[in-house]
This record gives sequence, C-alpha cells and structure tokens, in this order.
Amino acid sequence: FKTQVAIIGGGPSGLLLSQLLNKAGIDTVVLERSSRAHVLSRIRAGILEWGTVDLLREAGVGARMDAEGYPHDGCYLSDDDLMVHIDFRDLTGKQVMVYGQTEVTTDLYAAQDAMGTTILHGVEDVSIHDLEQAQSFVEFTHDGARKRVDCLYVAGCDGFHGVSRNTIPEEKRRAFERVYPFGWLGILSEVPPVNDELIYSNSRHGFALASMRNENLVRYYVQVPLTDKVEDWSDQRFWDAFTQRIPAEAAARLITGPSIEKSIAPLRSFVSEPLRWGNLFLVGDSAHIVPPTGAKGLNLAVSDVYYLHRALIEVLTGQGAAGIDDYSNRALARIWKAMRFSWQMTTMLHQFDGEDAFAAQMRKATLSHLANSQTARRELAENYIGLPF
Ligand code: FAD
Ligand code: DHB
Repeated sequence: FKTQVAIIGGGPSGLLLSQLLNKAGIDTVVLERSSRAHVLSRIRAGILEWGTVDLLREAGVGARMDAEGYPHDGCYLSDDDLMVHIDFRDLTGKQVMVYGQTEVTTDLYAAQDAMGTTILHGVEDVSIHDLEQAQSFVEFTHDGARKRVDCLYVAGCDGFHGVSRNTIPEEKRRAFERVYPFGWLGILSEVPPVNDELIYSNSRHGFALASMRNENLVRYYVQVPLTDKVEDWSDQRFWDAFTQRIPAEAAARLITGPSIEKSIAPLRSFVSEPLRWGNLFLVGDSAHIVPPTGAKGLNLAVSDVYYLHRALIEVLTGQGAAGIDDYSNRALARIWKAMRFSWQMTTMLHQFDGEDAFAAQMRKATLSHLANSQTARRELAENYIGLPF
C-alpha cells in the first residue's frame, strides 16, 4: 500500500480523521485490529458537545444524528437533599446532543464505504518505522501475510492500549496520571428514561448517573469498588443501588427492566506529552484518558481530530507546516482544560474510600454553591457544552 496518511485505529477518532481528510482529497489507509462488528458493539460515550456536532455535520455524517439524536438544553446535579438544574441553553446559548458513540461510528463507517476509502480490519502486530525520515512506513499482519503501507504521516488513533504512543522513545515523552479508587458499572435497559435530562447524583450511598440513548433505552451507571466484577452485580442488585442513589422524586417514577448490556470501566486521568514525534501524531485515547464524569472522552478525541485534520490538509496542499508544528501545543491546551473539568466533576460527585467527613462536606458545599450562584452554574455549563476549538 501507498498513502498520504496511515491511520492506526478505526475507532471514532481514526474514522473521523479519515473522513475529513478524504473529503479534502487526501488519501488514507485505516488499520484496525478488531472486526467492524466489534468496534460497533462497544457501548461507550453518549453525549456530544456542540462543537462535536458541528464537526460531524461538516464531515458529512450529521444527517441521521440530526434526525434521531436528542438535543438537551441542560442536566441535573444532585445529592440526598438538593437537585440543581444546569440550564446550558440559558447560561451559554448552546446545547449538547444525546447520540451514542456506536451510532457515530456506524455513520462514519457508512460514509467511508460510500467514499470507497481503505479500511483494513483484523490487522495485527502493527509497527511504525522511519518516523524521523521524510517518508515513513507501517508494517502489519493481515490475512496471514506481513504487509506494509508507505506514507508521509501516521495518525495514532489506536486508543489507550495501542502501539502508537509507545513507539515514541520513552525519553521523548512524559506521562501524567491519576487513577481513581473506583469504577463505573453501566447498564443498558429498554425502558423509558427516569428523567427528561441527565441526572448526575452524589448520594451518601455513592455516585449514580441517569443517562439515556432514546425514549425507550436508558444508560444508567453506579460507582463501584474497583475489586467488583460484573458477575457480582445481578440486575436486581443494580436497580436497588441505583434507586437508593438517585433523588427520591426521580426514584418514585423509575421504571426498571432487564439489562441488555452490563460492564465495568475503571476511572483514570492520563495525558502523555507531546502528541507529536516526527511524522507521528497521537489523537484521542492514544494520548489521553479522562474519567467519564462530564462526558469528555469522545469529545476530546474529536477536538484533536479538528486540529490535526486542518494541519494535515495545510501541509499536504502546500500551505506550510505551521499547523502540524503547532498541533501538539494547541491540542494539549484544550486537553488540559478538559482534564481539569473531568477531575473536578469526578471529585465533586464520588465517594472516595477512606475519606474523612470533611470531604463529604466539601461536596455538599459545592452543590449548594451551584444552587445559589448563576456564575458557578455558568462555569460548569461552559465546560460541559464544550470549550471552543
Ligand atoms: P478508541 O475508541 O479506543 O479506538 C481505538 C481503536 O484502535 C479501536 O477500535 C481499537 O480496536 C484500535 N486499536 C487498538 N490498538 C490497535 C493496534 N495495535 N492496531 C490497530 N488498531 C488498534 N467517553 C465519554 O465521553 N462518555 C462515556 O460514557 C464513555 N464511556 C467509556 C467507557 C469505556 C469502557 C471506555 C473504554 C471509554 C469510554 N469513554 C467514554 C471514552 C470514549 O469512548 C473514548 O474517549 C473514545 O472512544 C476515544 O476514541 P478513540 O478513537 O480515540 O479511541
Ligand atoms: C454518558 C456517559 C457519561 O460519562 C456522561 O458523563 C454522560 C452520559 C452516557 O453513556 O450516556
């Protein structure tokens, strides 16, 4: 194979980057380890920032999202005593879109097929070479044979466990990390949402989040100890915990049902700097992870793609290398702000094992301050709907 940009990973960031580059007449090859069915079955993010929504439209994949997604004007934050409404529309003039990551990737695959781009699935043992030369290449195993793609640039869109980040020599990168002592147990269930907007709830029994995918499909989460296994959580145990943790007025109208998916995700904050080494650019989860509180993971991957696709189009159409030279700094400036927001939301809403009584009072005071201060609510709303690119 020979291409302009080799893209490692066919998750949301790899597919969106490929889509935007091909639309601009730039050739790509996407190398994805899993099958398409596997990528499309991973239940992950559910909330799109307004900038993400705009970029998906610009990429030509906004039609089904606009028809079937649910714009939300706000969300709720609560504890055992208080339910605070954050009115995004009133505070910022913007909304977010409820539209699942599985839907976004479905639409991207369909658009890529329509354009006839090259996406290889079942690719193994990817290795990246000559990143400091004028031309680079990527080797991989596909259909039982060792193959190679020659390219000018490589986009590392292969998630947290991919090969791209670790291809950068250890002495050239620096990692920042915080691991939280709990995970989120999430379920999907075919019942109507308990509330018309999301509820992030910090109760004395721990955190819960009431989210949704559509009018008959909910995505609910509870904070669980890291040592818990999915098998420890029967549907009944989940519903009991969830009911205890959401505000009483919501619990009173909760409809429960069998779970159709159940999984536990650990919570982590992680950034690896810089995002560029020679011809390699890291994008999305390959370079950074946020805890899910605040719904920033997918949206951050999309903002990286925003900066990188413009920079690559510039350099590949003879408009200079300033964009690619600046990519890492520009993307990181926004990444660190989302890191801060996700960390703050996580700290404000979860119980930490072994914490003192003071910590719980701080959470209560933060919520009470949000209830009383429009300035505080605006600050939260501005981050939640997404900082400008
Ligand atoms: P990924 O989606 O991880 O895609 C990377 C792709 O690269 C994968 O398809 C993988 O198969 C492929 N790959 C990996 N290694 C290789 C290799 N060596 N060679 C070739 N291909 C490779 N975000 C939110 O905003 N809200 C949420 O509720 C939320 N929940 C999440 C739950 C879980 C369990 C996880 C793991 C993440 C969650 N996220 C959530 C984060 C969000 O899903 C990610 O930020 C988003 O998927 C990042 O997209 P990406 O394309 O950068 O990486
Ligand atoms: C969802 C996940 C989140 O992490 C979040 O903050 C909001 C919604 C979801 O899966 O719907």
